[in-house]
Amino acid sequence: MRTTSRLFLLSLASAAYSSVVDPLLVQSNDAVSGAQDVRVPIVLGVMSGCPDALLCESVFDHVLARVSAKVDLSLTFIGTPNASEPDFGVTCKHGPLECAGNVQELCAQKYAPFDRWWEFVQCQNFQGRYEVGKPETALKCAKSAQLDWENSGVGACAGLNGDGKAEEGVRLLRENVVVTAKMGIEKSCTVIINGRQVCIRDGSWKQCEGGHEPADFIRQIEEEYSKLNQG
Ligand SMILES: *[C@@H]1O[C@H](CO)[C@@H](O)[C@H](O)[C@H]1NC(C)=O
Repeated sequence: MRTTSRLFLLSLASAAYSSVVDPLLVQSNDAVSGAQDVRVPIVLGVMSGCPDALLCESVFDHVLARVSAKVDLSLTFIGTPNASEPDFGVTCKHGPLECAGNVQELCAQKYAPFDRWWEFVQCQNFQGRYEVGKPETALKCAKSAQLDWENSGVGACAGLNGDGKAEEGVRLLRENVVVTAKMGIEKSCTVIINGRQVCIRDGSWKQCEGGHEPADFIRQIEEEYSKLNQG
């Protein structure tokens, strides 16, 4: 019973993350553009300053190199709403700098095309976990990922100076940690493929029935993609 309702919540939440596809619309688009695929929603539950998240995102960088056209990947952040937190209203396990990193990544995810924000996240991770969330890291990584901080909307969302404390971004973080909790995600990093939790990285790999190598995730994604696009 508990599992059922949890899965239901998961699928609700992942439906909210993936683009909503109206079958009729897809059909009529097909005739015009030839596009017909339904992408597999992938959600990674993370904390931007968490070593397990950095590892997980690096594994998924390899996964994306093979199946990026078949997936719709998003990050969702773990944190605790806390009215006593002055800057964010959220307590982040690895401190306020992690909250700032979460805001920067949420804003990038909202306002930049996938390739740009994913490269931005990879760049942040590459600087090392203690650098994630610093304004100078965000601005440097925006530049290296060719993400236009000032004009894309990312900067306005996360703070033009890069501090992760602008109003919109902070609101995004507060809302997002609630969504994450409702999805039943507690550990960074939690991997959800097409609404199903398939793996957790928390110090070590846990509950990864289908494996945790890039090839294992690729296989599971291919399976889900076939199911979603059969007939
Ligand atoms: C809420 O935030 C305050 C201020 O940072 C902190 O002292 C307290 O431990 C936090 N509470 C929780 C439950 O994280």
